[in-house]
Amino acid sequence: MERASFRTGIIHSSTKNIAHRAARSGIQASAVAHGRRINREGMPNLFHFYQILTFTSEILTDDPKNNVSEYIYDKLDKNLHLLSDHPLGILKTVIQEYFARTGDNKPFTFYDNLAPVVSTYANFDSVLVPVDHISRSSNDTYYVNENTVLRCHTSAHQLELLKAGSRRFLVTGDVYRRDSIDATHFPVFHQMEGVCVFEPEDWKSRGISSLDLANSELKSTLEGLVRHLFGEIEMRWIDAYFPFTDPSYELEIFFNGEWLEVLGCGVMQSSILEAASLGDKRAWAFGLGLERLAMILFNIPDIRLFWTNDSRFSNQFKAGMFRAGGLGMRKFSSYSKFPPCYKDVSFWLAKDSTRFTENTLCELVRDVAGNLIEEVKLIDEFYSPKLDQTSNCFRFTYRSMERSLTDEEVNRLQEQVRHRLVSELEVTLR
Ligand code: DAH
Repeated sequence: MERASFRTGIIHSSTKNIAHRAARSGIQASAVAHGRRINREGMPNLFHFYQILTFTSEILTDDPKNNVSEYIYDKLDKNLHLLSDHPLGILKTVIQEYFARTGDNKPFTFYDNLAPVVSTYANFDSVLVPVDHISRSSNDTYYVNENTVLRCHTSAHQLELLKAGSRRFLVTGDVYRRDSIDATHFPVFHQMEGVCVFEPEDWKSRGISSLDLANSELKSTLEGLVRHLFGEIEMRWIDAYFPFTDPSYELEIFFNGEWLEVLGCGVMQSSILEAASLGDKRAWAFGLGLERLAMILFNIPDIRLFWTNDSRFSNQFKAGMFRAGGLGMRKFSSYSKFPPCYKDVSFWLAKDSTRFTENTLCELVRDVAGNLIEEVKLIDEFYSPKLDQTSNCFRFTYRSMERSLTDEEVNRLQEQVRHRLVSELEVTLR
C-alpha cells in the first residue's frame, strides 16, 4: 500500500511507516461551521482574524474541489490532544515537560489550539512543498475548496508562527490525510512540530558555523527527548529528505528487536527564515506523530482505540501515569475483542474513468461504516487482455471495538458500499 510522504517527494511505501503555556493573547476564536460551534482558545493575535475567516466559511460545501466527508467533519472538534487523561494528551504533556526544561532560559511556547483549516499556501507553499508533489493531490489531502485544506501536517504553521515573532515553539494538533484503512492508519491523527531559532551570537560565541550549531543542537535536543520518552535506548540517525529542511534526518530507535522511526527533522531551509525576515538566523525543526509513539509506549494495538468512548479503554489512562520507557507503568491491557466480519467485493475498474482510487474507496467505506471498519485490503488484482479491463477484489474487515455486530447490520453497510462503489466510483460489480 502506498501513501504520500514528505520524505521522498514521491510516493512512499507505508511498510516503513511512517508546555503548557497557552498563547499570550487568550483570545477565544470561535465560529460556527456547518451548525457546529468550534472553539479555538488562546490563539495568538495575528492568526485570529484569519482563523475566524476560515472557520466561518462552511467546511462541507458543494464546491467541486471539496472532498471532506461528514465522518471527517465530525472529527474537527474532537481535539483528543487536549484531553489530559487521554493517551495522546498524556504524551503531549510529557513532551512539553521536556521542552519546558530545555532551551537555556529561552523558553519554548506551546501552541495547542491552532485551527486545522489552513490555506494551501500555509500547508504546502510556505514549507516549500513542490507544486507537483503527490501530497497536494485531492487523492491524498482533504480540500475545503481550491485554496483551503485540512492541514496534513503541523509544519503548516512554521512560517506564520515565525512571522508572528515566535522563535522557539511546539505546535500540537490534529492532521488529516486521505489514506488506507488498517490498524495503524486513520485519516485523522496528531502531530507535534518543534522549531528553534538561533541568533548569530549563539554560534559566534561558540566559534562554530551556524549550520554546525543548528545541527548539533538539533541532535542533542532530540536524543534527549527520546531518552525522556524511552529511557536508555539504542538510537541512530538516518539521512532523509524533506522539502523544508537541509540536511534532513529521521531518528530511529531499536525497540523490541526492530528499528522504528520516531521522528523527522532537520535544519530549516534558509528561504523559510528569509520569508519571515529572519535571513540572518538559523533554525532546526522536527515533526513527530503522537499516535505512533503512544501505540509503542502504551502498547495500544489499534489506532481506532484513540477514538473510542469505551470506559475499558479510558479508565486505563490518567494524567501523570507516564514513566520513561514504560518502566513501572501499567501499560494498556487489551480487553477481549469482538468477532470480525469479513466481506469481499470484486469489480471491474472503468476503462475511461479515474474516479476509483484505493484512498477514495477507503474514504467511501469510512463514510458508510465509520469506526466499524477495521481494514480494507486488496486481496486480488488481475488484468484481462480479452476485456482490456482490470479487476480488483477487496476484503473489508468489519469489527466494533465496543460490541458484537449483527449479520444484518454488516450486510446493510456492505450493500451501501456496493451501491456507492457503482454510482460514485464508476466500477462494475462482478
Ligand atoms: N511534516 C513532516 C511529515 O508530516 C514531518 C517533519 C519532518 C516535520 C521534518 C519537520 C521536519 O519540521 O523538519 O511527514
